[in-house]
Formats: sequence, C-alpha cells, structure tokens
Amino acid sequence: MAHIQWYPGHMAKAKKEVQSQLSAVDIVLEIRDARIPTASMNPMLDEIIKSKRHMIVLNKKDLADPLQTKDWVKALSGENKMAIAIDAKKMSDMKLFRQSLKEFTQDIQQKWRNKGILHKSIRVMVVGIPNVGKSTFINQFTKQKKAQVGNKPGVTKGQQWIKIDKDFELLDTPGILWPKFEDQEVANKLALTGGIKDTHFYKDDVALFALEFFLHYYPDAISSHYPIKYEDVHPPYPELLMDLTKSMGMLEDYDRAADKIIRDFREGKLGRMTLDRIEEGNILRNEEVRD
Ligand code: G4P
Repeated sequence: MAHIQWYPGHMAKAKKEVQSQLSAVDIVLEIRDARIPTASMNPMLDEIIKSKRHMIVLNKKDLADPLQTKDWVKALSGENKMAIAIDAKKMSDMKLFRQSLKEFTQDIQQKWRNKGILHKSIRVMVVGIPNVGKSTFINQFTKQKKAQVGNKPGVTKGQQWIKIDKDFELLDTPGILWPKFEDQEVANKLALTGGIKDTHFYKDDVALFALEFFLHYYPDAISSHYPIKYEDVHPPYPELLMDLTKSMGMLEDYDRAADKIIRDFREGKLGRMTLDRIEEGNILRNEEVRD
C-alpha cells in the first residue's frame, strides 16, 4: 500500500506558511500534474486562498493524454480561475503561459491604473504538492531574471522576490502542499507518477494498479511495449505480472519487473496517459479535511 508521510503537524505548518505569504501576493499559481489533475490537488487550497486570484497550471502535459488534458483545462477554468496545460521544460509553453498570465491579470493592473498606481508589478506565488514540477517551473519562469528585489513584509525570512519583468514579481520559494493522501486510489496514482517516494510503497501493488488501469483505458499499451501477445493480456493481474516478468527475461524477480513498469510509465514509454479521467466526473471538489 502506498503511504505518504504527512502528519497533522506538517499540514498545519504548510497551511500556516502559505497563509502567511498570501497577504503579500496578488495571484496564486497552483501547479498540478496533468496526468492526475485531481490526485495532485490540495484538498484545502480553495479554503486557504479564499477569493485570491487562482491559476491552475497542469504541468507535464507532454506525458498526459492530450484529449483528456484539453477537457480538464476547460473543466477547471471558471469564474476568477484559469487553467492552462504546459510542459515546463519547453520554452514555447512558458511563453504561452506568460501571455495567459498577463491576460488573466490585466484587470488587476487596470484597477491600479485607475487609482493612479502606474509602476506596480503583480506578485505571484507558486504552490503545489511534491514532484509536480514547481522548481522546474520557477527556474524556467525566472530564467536569466535573477535580479532579486529583496525581502518584503509578509514573506518568510530568507525568501526573495524575483523580478520577472515590468509586469510580474515571483516569490522564489514555492509553497509545498499535501495531497488527499488518505484515499488509497489517490495514493496509488501519486506513487505511479512519482509523487510519493519509492521507499514508501510496495512496487508490486502499484504495478498491479497500473496494469489494471492500462488494460481498462489503454488496452494496447502493454502488448505494444512488452513481449506479450495482446490476447494474453488479461486478469487476474498478479498472473499477468508474473507472465510479464518471465517474458521480460527477469525469471521470478517480480519486484524488478514492477519497477520497470512504473519507470516506463513515468518516462512516457507506454504512451501519454491520464490517470484521473474527466469522463468519470472526477472534477475538482475541495473537501474539508481536518488539520
Ligand atoms: P517539485 O519542485 O514540485 O518537487 O518538482 P521538480 O521541479 O523537482 O520536478 C520533479 C520532476 O518532474 C523532475 O524530474 C523534473 O525534471 C520533472 N518535470 C518537471 N516539469 C516537467 C514537465 O513539464 N514534463 C516532464 N516530462 N517532466 C517534468 P526528475 O526525474 O526528478 O529530475 P530530472 O530529470 O530533472 O533530473
């Protein structure tokens, strides 16, 4: 069983840290993994950020199913909320993101201008659960923009504002949030995508979850990538894992085969896949959890 080490104390601390920075920012950029748009969300974020402007960035779109991503972007956009899908490693996507951010915040600038405030930058903060690509995103967004503008009130000691350009300033350290870890399916999806450390789950459990998922939603994926015939790919899944292990020449080393299946998925070798299915009404619902 996949297991995430987040305790009530961790959550309360993370929540407090994000809350303490909120008063200093104009917009929260929430990074999620495009393969798991709901499993990679924080169940309390809406409650934490209240009416603050909120942009959802579905990152790692290069690994996700493009049709699913298109529908997710539509479903997650709404009043005071905008969603966009990117591959943070791609400069052209970062340019598109920058353009969307500008459009999404132009009314804030307009309001300031109406009040005679002319040279104020929009202050941006990045939040997200581990491994969604927060650091990659910040590095890309701030590329060659290392002119830091110093500490400001409301910012944890040691954190800096980085001036991106005349329009935006970014908090250099992301707010790290927790996922809805008590849900077993969420935990399996996080483990498969790399959101939980490999030492915190049993690989064969997660590989069995993966095989069942592939067979259901991407039935060709297994036989087109591994030396096994399409008609031999069927439940029961433990036997399928044993057959795959043998066919890969790994004798009875099921752990090694499970590890390979998980790694192949993470690297996109099995194709672009989305684990949270939009057609199943898996739309974001921020649920109350006790902290
Ligand atoms: P975090 O700060 O939210 O914890 O995530 P981080 O930026 O460290 O990224 C986690 C992993 O995801 C990294 O891979 C990173 O390269 C990868 N990543 C980030 N954005 C994207 C993206 O848009 N597409 C793809 N395919 N990968 C992305 P890693 O294997 O942990 O490290 P490395 O390969 O960069 O050495």
